[in-house]
Amino acid sequence: MGGRPKEVLGNQPVTFGHYRLDPRRGLWRGRQEVKLAPKALALLRFLLERAGDVITKDEVFRAVWPDTFVSDGALTSCIRELRKALQDDARQPRYIETLHRRGYRFIARALSASTEAAPPGPRRQSAVRSPASAPLVGREPELQQLHRWLAGACKGEQQIGFVTGEPGIGKTTVVEAFLSQVGAATPIRIGRGQCVDHYGAGEAYLPVLDALTRLCREPNGDAVVRVLAQHAPTWLVQMPSLVSTGELRGLQRRAQAAMQERMLRELTEAVEVLTLDAPLILRLEDLHWSDVSTMDWLAFLGRRPERARLLVLGTYRPIEVLAKEHPLKAVKEELQLHRFCRELALDGLSEAAVEEYLVRRFSVGAELTAKVRSLAGQIHTRSDGNPLFMVNIADDLVARGVLVEHGGRWGFAASADPVAINVPADVRSMIERQFDRLGPADRHVLEVASVAGTEFSAPAVAAGVELGGLEVESCCTGLARREQFLRRSGTEDWPDGTIAARYAFLHALYREVLYERVPPGRRAALHTRLGLRVEAGYGERSREIAAELAMHFERGRDTERAVRYLHEAGQNAIKRNAPREAIAHIERAIGLLQTFPLQPGRAQQELALQIALGSQLGAISGWAALEVERAYARAHALAREVGDAPQLFPALWGLWLYYWGRGELARARALGEHLLRLAERAGDRTLVLQAHHALWPTLFSRGEFREALDHSSRGVAQYEAEVHGLLAPLYGNHDAGACALYFGAWTLGLLGLPDRAVEMSRAAIALAQQLAHPFSQALSLFFAAAVHQCRGEPPAVRERAEAAIVLARAHGFGLTLAWATTLLGWAISREGQPEDGIAMIRRGTAAARNTGSEAFRPYFLALLADACTTAGSPADGLAAVAEALATAVKTGERFYEAELYRLKGELLRRREHGEPRAALIPGHALGGPGSPEECLVKAIEVARRQGARSLELRAVVSVSRVWREHGREADARRTLVDACSGFTEGLDTVDLREAQALLNAMPAP
Ligand SMILES: Nc1ncnc2c1ncn2[C@@H]1O[C@H](COP(=O)(O)OP(=O)(O)OP(=O)(O)O)[C@@H](O)[C@H]1O
Ligand SMILES: [Mg+2]
Repeated sequence: MGGRPKEVLGNQPVTFGHYRLDPRRGLWRGRQEVKLAPKALALLRFLLERAGDVITKDEVFRAVWPDTFVSDGALTSCIRELRKALQDDARQPRYIETLHRRGYRFIARALSASTEAAPPGPRRQSAVRSPASAPLVGREPELQQLHRWLAGACKGEQQIGFVTGEPGIGKTTVVEAFLSQVGAATPIRIGRGQCVDHYGAGEAYLPVLDALTRLCREPNGDAVVRVLAQHAPTWLVQMPSLVSTGELRGLQRRAQAAMQERMLRELTEAVEVLTLDAPLILRLEDLHWSDVSTMDWLAFLGRRPERARLLVLGTYRPIEVLAKEHPLKAVKEELQLHRFCRELALDGLSEAAVEEYLVRRFSVGAELTAKVRSLAGQIHTRSDGNPLFMVNIADDLVARGVLVEHGGRWGFAASADPVAINVPADVRSMIERQFDRLGPADRHVLEVASVAGTEFSAPAVAAGVELGGLEVESCCTGLARREQFLRRSGTEDWPDGTIAARYAFLHALYREVLYERVPPGRRAALHTRLGLRVEAGYGERSREIAAELAMHFERGRDTERAVRYLHEAGQNAIKRNAPREAIAHIERAIGLLQTFPLQPGRAQQELALQIALGSQLGAISGWAALEVERAYARAHALAREVGDAPQLFPALWGLWLYYWGRGELARARALGEHLLRLAERAGDRTLVLQAHHALWPTLFSRGEFREALDHSSRGVAQYEAEVHGLLAPLYGNHDAGACALYFGAWTLGLLGLPDRAVEMSRAAIALAQQLAHPFSQALSLFFAAAVHQCRGEPPAVRERAEAAIVLARAHGFGLTLAWATTLLGWAISREGQPEDGIAMIRRGTAAARNTGSEAFRPYFLALLADACTTAGSPADGLAAVAEALATAVKTGERFYEAELYRLKGELLRRREHGEPRAALIPGHALGGPGSPEECLVKAIEVARRQGARSLELRAVVSVSRVWREHGREADARRTLVDACSGFTEGLDTVDLREAQALLNAMPAP
């Protein structure tokens, strides 16, 4: 874009600090004129017009020396002259701040003449963000409350605070007033992030990324960039505008390969590091529009025991949260439960505050007190004390000439009757009335701007109006200066070199009202035009703003582009490990595709979308969910239809995953073997790896441990993190290498190699962590817990299961959450709270089943039976065992069968000791073994057949006790010695120690 138009302040004098700049009479301090050279004066005017914005040297040159070329020296000497005149100090600036290598910024609060009399609210203003002529009234207690939160945060008591209330109640205003009181010169960092209502599913972490990006761009932003590069590379990668292309590649590599921590933890740590040298306030605006990932992060932050000098200040409208069932509700409840968050709910202003507003805004004299009071009463009644409504009524009174200015003083027009203020019934009509009063050019620009968004770039709007870019800018600048509808919000550098001036609607409601007035056909055409302009501006980097572009093209009915950008937005979400946003974007894309005729290109596109969808759905809804099958089955059909061999494989693989999750193990096995044949025929190493990846869980579940181990070992041998670590989005959204290790670990544990099992499960966790892949991490942790459960170690189970739960909760991994809950329940039952443990196991198993999953169900029921044994409730335990055995028969999942028989034997024994023989033992109904001893012998038999030494040992210990009671010590001894002799490691595990103790208690033969 070319030069910026020379902006003028109009003829309004502006006051800042002790000074007053009168455009016609020059700079004044009190009654004394401060002499300035014309260029210095022009520079000061320019700085004041753009108060709060960072202004580059180029911009200054264009504005102050539009037609001549001058050196940097001219500018610096001009700045020096200004500083001298304003008695400002470059090192501790009160007015003009130099931003190293970026430019300058006017940092003091500037007031236009009509508000000069307003008492100083904020102590120090960092930027003129809210309209200069808006006195803040009636919020003193709220401001004090916010300062108390900050004081707590500064002491290291991390705070999450929500400021809530209806639209226009003054959330933004009070928070901004507070932030400007905190001031620019204090060492406190302030990050401002904004949620946007426009982007469908929302972009993962949008407000947080927004706040971080802005922090990085501020003075000393380099330090923030450094902290992010070191502690949160995955985050910096999401902010490509901050790093050079070369650096970006390096970061991407690190983020993908060598990264140590997952995104949530990374961000939290980076934030904690940032707060070491200065407290940080993170303002997250309009959280009712937030994406779910940001919510996850808040929840994560609240659960984290470490405390940082951090104040997260969120604003939201409770009504929207309730109406849309926004996840914020749950997050806040959870935070509140643990007392990790506070809320400041804003009420309407009092009548006295309305009166104060009128007095301050219109600086009326005492003679009008009665009239003002009556007017305040009416405005208060009409607006219910809603400040937005109040301000609009006041504006309307001015516009209609009810209130008039004479020589700097306001009064009522002679004809006006303040008792009949004639105001529309609601604020929307009020806004429309104001809009209708504008000139045609302003109306035109605003209409297009309402299509562009609550915040927008002038060049984008220019594409939609029949006006030049400069005219649009001057229109916007004029509106902003008159504080009508718009305010400035900085500039943005587009990749094509355009310097885009940004503006924002003063209030979201203004945009909404104007947008609704645009006729649908025109709206669609405008969306397309704006989308094309922004797309051109971003060129190759347009995928960075895919969600925004998708919105424009979708609303502009350019379906092809909309699908493309929705797909990109989905991929962005996958890269950010945000499956829920990914699902929303992809489902939308698929929905739009349905409106196309089915051609090869379209089928191909849908195929890729369905496969991506299946894997993301699996993580959230569980693998056995019907929607997972739907996605993969459709992908399969499409792949066959278009003869796409490369995509056929992942589609079939996805179906395998569904069958496995559903407990259809025979089918799963057949499909796994089919996949292996396909892969071997293709001679493709990746496909071979993924075929094994289907077979090791299947064979494990069937209790074919040696075969399962063989497949997982071959998987480990094929796997290369740099190549295969990136394939999770195609294959079940989890890493094949980590999966080989964690399944291998559990298999080893059951086969009687408990130490190697732990070692391997640690390797799985480390790999998943290295890949920074939360879903693989959560799964690795769950399987590690299972390994420790196999070793009989409740505290370690609890630790791993809890870690899995934290991650699963944070990311919404439903099935993993249910699984880990079950294991946690077992640990708790063993740690002395059997009843709580039982309740938790029941919750976990029910939740898993609700997803349609049958995987591991017999195992989980065995854990329940075990907890019932501990709790002394054999009847409940036996019922669980009966159900487990029935499930095993139905699904073919037999890996825990031996233990089920052992538990049955133990429970029957307890029942015999405890209660009279009941009429029917559940096992009988299935025709299984009937007496305790028969059950235990059967357990040994099954375990031996499967090679499950650990389970065999447990069963042998149980049966030996029975035999001892029956005087068969020699048999007991022989069997025990036999079972123990198979163990070369894990000698300190509970089961082996118990076996040893039993042996020691028996007389030597
Ligand atoms: N305490 C106040 N004193 C004077 N004017 C106020 C006050 N609070 C808000 N206003 C005026 O009301 C307008 C709306 O307030 P604000 O934008 O802060 O509302 P909000 O609660 O953030 O609304 P939304 O939910 O739409 O974001 C402001 O632009 C300002 O002009
Ligand atoms: Mg607001």
